[in-house]
Amino acid sequence: MSTENTSREETERNSFVYVVAALAALNGLLFGFDTGVISGAMLYIRETFELATILGYSMNPAYVEGVIVSGAMIGAIIGAALGGRLADRLGRRRLILVGAVVFFVGSLIMAVAPTVEVLILGRIVDGIGVGFASVVGPLYISEISPPKIRGSLVSLNQLTITSGILIAYLVNFAFSSGGEWRWMLGLGMVPATVLFVGMLFMPESPRWLYEQGREADAREVLSRTRAEGQVAAELREIKDTIQTESGTLRDLLQPWVRPMLVVGIGLAVFQQVTGINTVMYYAPTILESTGFEDTASILATVGIGVVNVVMTVVAVLLIDRAGRRPLLLTGLGGMTVMLAVLGAVFYLPGLSGWLGVLATGSLMLYVAFFAIGLGPVFWLMIAEIYPMEVRGTAMGVVTVLNWAANLIVSLTFLRLVDVFGQSGTFWLYGGLTLLALVFCYQLVPETKGRSLEEIEADLRETAFGTDADRRDAVGSDD
Ligand code: GLC
Repeated sequence: MSTENTSREETERNSFVYVVAALAALNGLLFGFDTGVISGAMLYIRETFELATILGYSMNPAYVEGVIVSGAMIGAIIGAALGGRLADRLGRRRLILVGAVVFFVGSLIMAVAPTVEVLILGRIVDGIGVGFASVVGPLYISEISPPKIRGSLVSLNQLTITSGILIAYLVNFAFSSGGEWRWMLGLGMVPATVLFVGMLFMPESPRWLYEQGREADAREVLSRTRAEGQVAAELREIKDTIQTESGTLRDLLQPWVRPMLVVGIGLAVFQQVTGINTVMYYAPTILESTGFEDTASILATVGIGVVNVVMTVVAVLLIDRAGRRPLLLTGLGGMTVMLAVLGAVFYLPGLSGWLGVLATGSLMLYVAFFAIGLGPVFWLMIAEIYPMEVRGTAMGVVTVLNWAANLIVSLTFLRLVDVFGQSGTFWLYGGLTLLALVFCYQLVPETKGRSLEEIEADLRETAFGTDADRRDAVGSDD
């Protein structure tokens, strides 16, 4: 009887943790929606506004479009830069609330924008919300999750990013006949509202609470999200590890943290320079160049979005069983091969009738390999590999670099295609993917199944064995 009760309690607590993580993962939905919606909306924004001036300065319309599209990424860079410190100061939960409000306001500004300038302002505000969300979503989920299912729960955030992109493609498709871009952009207010209201009922991260000296509250949260027997042990582990105030930028350069800073920066930059967002932003353009009609290329793009979601589900299911490294390395290997194939498809003469089909198939496989590896693993690992005292700051820094690389890749893609052709451009991304494979093979650690505190202890042990030995000795007394 009592065993039955315990296992029932355990299920209840576990299911509550799923609810918390699923709700917090709506942060990813904001991110993905924002990424996917603009390409479709842009087609009609062009018809509403004269895109030849900003603030009275005359400009090339293509340049104005670039500013509208990249405005959100610039906002996201600002949001991520502030987000790490704010997550430490305000708390994870409160920053999620702030992010949802900012995103809501940005979407509203865009929906009612009377001029191009106001539209750009709306994109930047919206982007700041996305920047906050991209740091604090994975951070919050990783700190609230039990180690055994942390990989799957944090990867829910990547699942909602990919779902957000797919929903945006479908929204673009649905509204395209009327050209109602204000609705397309304004719809972002819906997930922002759900996230805000839902988060009001969710608990704060127990690790952040403990760091604030609120041990009783931390225990409370753990007892709502863990089985009875696990609370004390996890709290003890947190106690053993957290010792200082939250860290500053300079603390990131401490010798024992530095190797993980390199890993985070490498993953952040490689996740983008291997080209994924050229597909997310420009798939219809790439496919039209193969001779596909408008509708065929939009439908093929939706197909690519579906593959992205489905393969991310596979990653969510596998990541705590197979581990992070096998998924990452398999994914990178597959991406390298598919980029080589894509380059060849565009290079070889005489494919004409088959070009569109082959290109779509290769793009789908490339996206599939991204989705089981580099896509989710980057966002997961940066929420796992940093010690508590610098976690917020470190995630802010690497997320800024991720957004900056995203911006550079999306601004340079069309130019690269002009200069090197589609083949040359895909081969260039392929070369960078191979480099990413070597980097990850050499430097990225496995974090599967270990608590955040064990990961931190290992880091200390690698840097100063004696310190960690002392810690272990203390631990073994318990
Ligand atoms: C990852 C990337 C993001 C990209 C998405 C595509 O979340 O960080 O830039 O748009 O995957 O699925």
